Amino acid sequence: MRCRKSRGGARIWVGLLGALLLQRAAAAVNVCFDQSNPASSVDLRVARAALTAAGERRVQAVPFEGQGKGDDGFPVRRFARLAREQCDLIVGFPVDASDPHLPPQVLATPAYARTGFVWIGRSPLPAPAELPQGAVVGIAELDTWAALLFPAHPDWRMQAYPRDAELLAALRADVLKTGVIWQPYLVAEEKRSGARPLSFRRLEMPHLVWDLVALYAPGSHAAAERFARGLQTLEDRGRLAGLIAPYALPEQRSGSASPMRMRPDERRPAAGGLRPVRKRQRSGTAAPPALYTAQQAERGASAYAQHCALCHGTALEGRTGPALKGPGFADPASDFHVGDIFGFIARMMPAATPGSLPRETYVDLMAFLLQQNGYPAGTQALSYDQALQSRVPLIYHDPPAAP
Ligand code: HEC
Repeated sequence: MRCRKSRGGARIWVGLLGALLLQRAAAAVNVCFDQSNPASSVDLRVARAALTAAGERRVQAVPFEGQGKGDDGFPVRRFARLAREQCDLIVGFPVDASDPHLPPQVLATPAYARTGFVWIGRSPLPAPAELPQGAVVGIAELDTWAALLFPAHPDWRMQAYPRDAELLAALRADVLKTGVIWQPYLVAEEKRSGARPLSFRRLEMPHLVWDLVALYAPGSHAAAERFARGLQTLEDRGRLAGLIAPYALPEQRSGSASPMRMRPDERRPAAGGLRPVRKRQRSGTAAPPALYTAQQAERGASAYAQHCALCHGTALEGRTGPALKGPGFADPASDFHVGDIFGFIARMMPAATPGSLPRETYVDLMAFLLQQNGYPAGTQALSYDQALQSRVPLIYHDPPAAP
């Protein structure tokens, strides 16, 4: 129900989301879905049905690209902006059932379905406890949460596949007996391929069970309230289970909409748009790596003064743009990597003329930001591609005490 004029920040999104958003019907409820989430059609169906049940007929589905270039999905901090500027509801967001946390500055509706990582194999599926010593269990490399299974079973051997598709192929070819997979992926893949369904069951372990919710900004409270009311109506009429049937388990039907308790104030990484992202180990005390040279940082300092200081402050303290230094920026809880922030800067900054600077200048700026956040200079220069692909966590380190 909001009609918001695009402001500076919103302009940045236009390239990403396209003209579609500009044309949206002013009065419709905008339901954003992650178009890289293979199961988003289930989430959209739930949203449409719930809103309709609550008397809201103008529902507009708005896609966003939730899977970033890296494997970590959509940076959690972006959800607040997306919710504020483009969406009344963001459906399909997974919340860890054992440790519920939301991205900062958003709220969540009650959960409408429960999903997570499932134990999978050909029938008859052996229970985890029945596996022989040294059994091989497959996971897709991206699923670092799924890897939590292995510390509990030191006698298993983990076999990592580049992607879910390869893992499923190995299971179907009987090269592999058992594995762990993100259920929404399985749901979508079986529907698409028409392959004979594999057996699976949920892994009732901490961090492997996730509840699907819709996120919203405080300003969209009315839409969220209607969605929650509609969910309740669907449940009362026995219709919710059918809608979320793809997430149901063979042996156990579940997924009632139950209100969840969450601590939205805590800034912990919850998830990418598509699948949960593993919490990064807190490595704030480890010495930060040397990624750039002192010359790069020096050039970066002058480029910063020229192109960035106006909005981000001469001491990176933040003005119209956020602070680019300190624990508030390079916060361990935000689960940001050098590659994420570099990609953002190179594509989106300076805000008025995104992408306008030479590549080397962006690299120099990254070097300067690293320096300002406590990363030491080294002998090896940072390159554009390295910066873009860097998985080094971006965490503020207090500068070493002056000699
Ligand atoms: C015209 C004002 C303006 C200029 C100039 C500008 N920025 Fe920004 N910047 C913003 C605003 C506003 C945001 C927050 C909105 C957004 O992220 O879309 C932002 C966000 C950022 C972020 C993300 C911060 C976070 O915590 O998510 C980074 C990094 C950044 N800018 C770096 C730069 C760099 C480097 C330059 C210089 C090349 C620059 N900016 C120039 C306005 C500006």
